Amino acid sequence: MAGIIEERREEAERLRGYFEVQLRFAQTIAARTSRPLAETLLEVTNLHRRFGLGRAAPGAPSEGWMRYAAGLARCASDAERLAWTVEVFAAAPAEPSGALRFGCFSYELQDEGRVVRIHFSNRDSGEDLGPLARAKVDRRISELREMFRHVREHHGQARTVRGGSWLYNLEAYRRLFPPDYAASVFEPERVRLDGTSSWGQLLDFRGAVKPAVARTLLDNIGQGDAAAPWRAFPLRALGAESPIASFHRLYGG
Ligand SMILES: CC(C)(COP(=O)(O)OP(=O)(O)OC[C@H]1O[C@@H](n2cnc3c(N)ncnc32)[C@H](O)[C@@H]1OP(=O)(O)O)[C@@H](O)C(=O)NCCC(=O)NCCS
Repeated sequence: MAGIIEERREEAERLRGYFEVQLRFAQTIAARTSRPLAETLLEVTNLHRRFGLGRAAPGAPSEGWMRYAAGLARCASDAERLAWTVEVFAAAPAEPSGALRFGCFSYELQDEGRVVRIHFSNRDSGEDLGPLARAKVDRRISELREMFRHVREHHGQARTVRGGSWLYNLEAYRRLFPPDYAASVFEPERVRLDGTSSWGQLLDFRGAVKPAVARTLLDNIGQGDAAAPWRAFPLRALGAESPIASFHRLYGG
């Protein structure tokens, strides 16, 4: 138990810089739109999910969020707000994830199981290389092969694969997928900012904030359209979609 608490505290410290950028981003928007900070944080950062509270449901915020917001209102400075955010994260349980993991990949079923949505998170920083390095392409493809074999065996009704992430800007990511899926990338009209699909680009493979990306983001949000905050990110989260048959063909289904 002590080990888990210690690990969570270390993770909170590692994420301090990430939380700081998210707080500054939301504060700028709150100031520019005259909206309360807590409401803006809920909408344009992934703190709700990071605190293990899941996706925020429309309507009244969750109890856990209300506690965070109340503490935030008592803070008198940016440093206090950041310290409180780190503290709330450290005391929170890990994000609940019912999803099966296949290395860096997991999936979620949508539209009554007809759609498979791909998720990526870094679980491989070994050899001092990022998970998308050329030397690790075979590993990533094995994970995808495994995942789509599982999908075929358990979700025969799935017809379409979808994704939505800044990662689709990167050839290093697109090359892992069927050509028609990789070529399908499109810019959605609106992008939600309460997950990792845009925020993920702030982090390097060690989990540290990329200073140049953070600077550009914060400069952009100070000047750009505060009503379309996703446009402030250097790389836009892109959508991708293709028939699942392309995946089964490529990965040997
Ligand atoms: C994905 C992740 C591991 C990339 O970290 P990284 O330190 O940039 O990793 P790498 O150095 O291996 O970069 C991978 C490739 O992307 C490119 N890249 C990364 N960030 C980039 C950026 N902002 N602009 C342009 N290219 C970029 C790199 O140049 C490299 O390409 P190359 O192999 O052709 O040189 C890291 O951002 C992360 O863990 N993010 C959180 C998870 C996430 O975003 N998930 C998506 C959820 S939808």
